[in-house]
Amino acid sequence: MAVVGPSGCGKTTLLNLMGALDKPTAGKIFLEEQDISGLPETNLYKIRREKVGFIFQAFYLIPTLNVLQNVLIPTLPLKAKNKYYSDRAKELLKIVGLDGKEKRRPGELSGGEQQRVAIARALILDPVLILADEPTGNLDPKTGQKIFTLLRELNLTGKKTIITATHNQKIKELCDRVISLKDHPMNS
Ligand SMILES: Nc1ncnc2c1ncn2[C@@H]1O[C@H](COP(=O)(O)OP(=O)(O)OP(=O)(O)O)[C@@H](O)[C@H]1O
Ligand SMILES: [Mg+2]
Repeated sequence: MAVVGPSGCGKTTLLNLMGALDKPTAGKIFLEEQDISGLPETNLYKIRREKVGFIFQAFYLIPTLNVLQNVLIPTLPLKAKNKYYSDRAKELLKIVGLDGKEKRRPGELSGGEQQRVAIARALILDPVLILADEPTGNLDPKTGQKIFTLLRELNLTGKKTIITATHNQKIKELCDRVISLKDHPMNS
């Protein structure tokens, strides 16, 4: 699903609400039929980590960690199953086409490659929902298209729900659903 609308209309805010990064001042938010809007922070961080994968426009990789370590970040609080997750991270890096680049640091990758690391990181704990805030906004059209094709595959074969905020007309056309937000009243 695509969330579209002019700059400042609230796409990022909506995604942050859906991913429990932000709390609503009114209304309710249901994730897998659970109302998450009133939950305390101690429950929310678990939901964010286990149920939601975030992909941000600016990637937010940790520059001092290598590719593999970046993908493993969401698993750090779990402490157990180290081997399982490092095998899974390597497998995900293969899927996103970064086989052989596990030891590189983010600064040694192209923008598209960094975004693919972020996608692998979003998938490491097998979330039910992937929120992608303009995941192709920083990429050239061809690389953006490749990233989107990858997300679409994850949706179709991996049965993931993917919600993406985008200004990209092509991406919008390829989505099953498009939600248009009206302009923020303060911006008009
Ligand atoms: N932390 C915040 N505190 C107060 N207002 C905020 C905050 N973050 C965003 N806003 C305001 O909320 C509105 C929606 O912002 P948001 O970032 O969700 O827009 P957007 O649709 O994602 O825009 P863009 O396409 O530029 O990314 C804007 O008017 C913005 O100024
Ligand atoms: Mg935004």
